[in-house]
Amino acid sequence: MSHFLPWPWPRVLAHRGGGTLAPENTLGAIRFGYEQGFRAIEFDAMLAADSVAVLMHDPTLERTTSGRGPVPAWRASDLARLDAGAWHSARFAGEPVPQLADAIAWCRAHDVWLNVEIKPAPGFESVTGARVAEDCARAYADLLAPKAPGTAQEQALARLPLLSSFERDALVAARAAAPGLPRGYLLDAVPENWMQELAALGCMALHTNHRYLTRALARAIKDAGYWLFCYTVDEPARARQLFDWGVDALCTDRLDLIGADFAGRGTA
Ligand code: G3P
Ligand code: MG
Repeated sequence: MSHFLPWPWPRVLAHRGGGTLAPENTLGAIRFGYEQGFRAIEFDAMLAADSVAVLMHDPTLERTTSGRGPVPAWRASDLARLDAGAWHSARFAGEPVPQLADAIAWCRAHDVWLNVEIKPAPGFESVTGARVAEDCARAYADLLAPKAPGTAQEQALARLPLLSSFERDALVAARAAAPGLPRGYLLDAVPENWMQELAALGCMALHTNHRYLTRALARAIKDAGYWLFCYTVDEPARARQLFDWGVDALCTDRLDLIGADFAGRGTA
């Protein structure tokens, strides 16, 4: 969905809540990012056994929690009793696995903008896309309500979350469940048919690994009328270069090196 609209959101996002300085995908990480001045974050949303969306990156629990086994084998209430912070540092010990709805509620209460990455466990692509989009639509129902054309709609867009996913089926299901929410197609390297894919999926943004982006490709994506988002950028010189190429926004793991106001410091 080509649109040529200016990027309406903050340009620097804290990856997984607080980057590598806090335990990913926890409320503690989100609070940490907020304390560092970030008012925009990316996190990952996956379904538990009872189809409740929780914040989680891996389809198994071992790396980031005190639990074991596949995430879809656990109910959200049981995931909430795990320790998702101790693996990172003693300071964050006892952080639970949060539900998506609770994370959104905290962010809305604190005016933190969200890029919600739909991260399905294998085999759960469509149901995850639908459920995450439904949760978001419910949480932002006031902003999705039909409005008179003009400024009010632009103001609403500036507060709506941006959904993204590597999984086509998840994006298709998200679109069907909540067509009013903006979506981004998340890619590692950008394939040659990127424009057809964005059109077919009705996506407004292309999200890509900055390592494979070139100035020419960035220009082509922007000239075609799409937003361009890069992950995960941890070197200030590279961030400066990407903004110079026309990249709209990026997420970082190094909140200490690339601050929330980085894009405003004469770089764009
Ligand atoms: O959404 C951008 C980025 O988070 C994608 O990669 O593996 O960190 O979720 P990953
Ligand atoms: Mg992610």
